[in-house]
Amino acid sequence: MKCFSVAIDGPAGAGKSTMAKRVAEALGFLYVDTGAIYRTVGLAARRAGVEDSAGTAALLPGLKVALDYGADGLQHMYLNGEDVTAEIRRPEISLYASRVSAIPEVRSFLLQKQRDLAATRNVVMDGRDIGTVVLPNADVKIFLTAAPEERARRRHAELLERGMDSTYENVLADLTERDQNDMNRPVAPLRRAEDAVQVDTTGISLEDSFTLLLDTIQRRIAL
Ligand code: DC
Repeated sequence: MKCFSVAIDGPAGAGKSTMAKRVAEALGFLYVDTGAIYRTVGLAARRAGVEDSAGTAALLPGLKVALDYGADGLQHMYLNGEDVTAEIRRPEISLYASRVSAIPEVRSFLLQKQRDLAATRNVVMDGRDIGTVVLPNADVKIFLTAAPEERARRRHAELLERGMDSTYENVLADLTERDQNDMNRPVAPLRRAEDAVQVDTTGISLEDSFTLLLDTIQRRIAL
């Protein structure tokens, strides 16, 4: 059976997870949030108190990173059996995730895990290198982006809604630093795949962005 895959890449706060989740629901596909997988490794590094590449790579053989989909349909992340789904969303984990994601050993540790998820199911997968590295043969590739200030505004609102304390300035600084890390790392940097459709949602409402995205995808996959 042919499995369809939709790759959605883009910088932090571009709305990838919100959009990918809704698109997956509309298509009846599984939504895979690959950032959550890197966040789980970032959390492990933070807990172990390691900041450097060699120390992080040394942790990998002892790490069990797993995910499943609960009755709520949400992707739950497990670190050595512990459900860390909520904890990996803490703002301080974002930078750890970005740092560990630049380490080649971490990327290869997680690569097959991501490919396996798409091997037997129709998926919408979001991340930074899905269209370029993880699923280079994805049926549809989207590069979702928006201006940094708008992405920071959205991310800030989202954190406040979750009851997390943060300022717009801190969120913007964090996004800018992560964009720099993610775009400039030597391995699997964030970049638009040549065959990806770029969708810029600056100044476009959530509803209109969703319609635009779903339409773009449906025109490319005939289900
Ligand atoms: O999507 P997110 O913001 O939750 O991702 C957290 C970090 O993980 C992000 O700064 C970069 C990294 N990441 C990555 O390098 N490759 C992916 N496919 C997904 C995320």
